[in-house]
Amino acid sequence: MKTIKASLIGFGSVGQGVAKVLLRKQQELKLLGLDIKVVAIADSKTAAINLAGLNLEEILKRKESEGIVGDEKANGNEIILDIEHDLVIETTPTNIDTGGVGLLNMLTAFSKKRHVVTSNKGPLALRYRELESLASRSGCAFKFEATVGGAMPLLNLVRNTLAGNEVLSIEGIFNGTCNYILSRMMEEHATYELMLAEAQELGIAEKDPSYDVEGIDTACKLVILANAIFGMDVTYKDVSITGISRITPEALMLAEADGYVIKLIGEVSKNRIQVAPRLVPIGHPLAVGGTLNVASLQTDLAGPVIVVGRGAGSIETASAILSDIISIYKN
Ligand SMILES: NC(=O)c1ccc[n+]([C@@H]2O[C@H](COP(=O)([O-])OP(=O)(O)OC[C@H]3O[C@@H](n4cnc5c(N)ncnc54)[C@H](OP(=O)(O)O)[C@@H]3O)[C@@H](O)[C@H]2O)c1
Repeated sequence: MKTIKASLIGFGSVGQGVAKVLLRKQQELKLLGLDIKVVAIADSKTAAINLAGLNLEEILKRKESEGIVGDEKANGNEIILDIEHDLVIETTPTNIDTGGVGLLNMLTAFSKKRHVVTSNKGPLALRYRELESLASRSGCAFKFEATVGGAMPLLNLVRNTLAGNEVLSIEGIFNGTCNYILSRMMEEHATYELMLAEAQELGIAEKDPSYDVEGIDTACKLVILANAIFGMDVTYKDVSITGISRITPEALMLAEADGYVIKLIGEVSKNRIQVAPRLVPIGHPLAVGGTLNVASLQTDLAGPVIVVGRGAGSIETASAILSDIISIYKN
């Protein structure tokens, strides 16, 4: 049995999902020979530390009832620096202007030779090459399946199952909020403003939705794909971006009359990185509804490959994180 000491930095929707999944999958992990002990957890204000392994159930309860994870005052970065452990699970908020605390956490983790698994797009959308090369120089794994399409398998699909293939292009829907709004506008023949308000009420859209609806979130995901799969060196500022806020119900109705839906499509290949609303034939594999994500890959050997899945959600995103963790230690 291999014992892995992990820290969990960020204990919101995804961090708590990871804790629940680790509890739920304890037996399955043991069958794989893995005993994952979370030795430290940090949120924005507090921390919990126990080198013998924290009681995740108790911490989940405390976070729910008191809004904090523990009584320690150490911050996440201090934990990564000072507590002896093997793996940092980084789930702090995305900041695409500076990389935020997540960037510092990842740089610190590699400097201390700790593996990183993350759902945080910001650092990767800004400083991918640097992080990747620092990880490899430190002999650390750097895994980020959850940053693109949540539970929808994409990076590991290309790296593992499609190994040996050249990926020629990837296009798809990478933002569930936009897909929900466009799908509902189509169903109800309603305005963008009305369906955005509905999405906000349901918790599908943020209070400030601009990052999603202006296409920036999709652009960040394309940048991660461009850097990680196509070997490029780009940031989200290199992406041509058009969002969905100017799409009218009339445009959707005209499209429908001709047999199309309008979708916010992200596309990446060696020559092009672009986010824009596009006409997609009704019934086409990319015409998925609701909050679903979809990716269509063109490859040289396998031909077209299409994956559909949930792009967000606490447990769904934790599923991608768990698979990254397992892949590090199975190899
Ligand atoms: N939610 C999803 O479905 C999803 C899917 C894919 C990717 N992601 C990405 O995953 C990351 C986490 O998302 P989320 O939905 O879990 O966000 P969230 O619910 O807002 O949680 C963020 C967590 O980070 C903590 N935090 C903030 N600043 C911190 C700091 N300086 N040090 C330590 N912890 C800090 C927060 O503390 P408090 O609890 O004290 O506020 C909170 O626990 C984001 O980068 C997001 O873009 C999310």
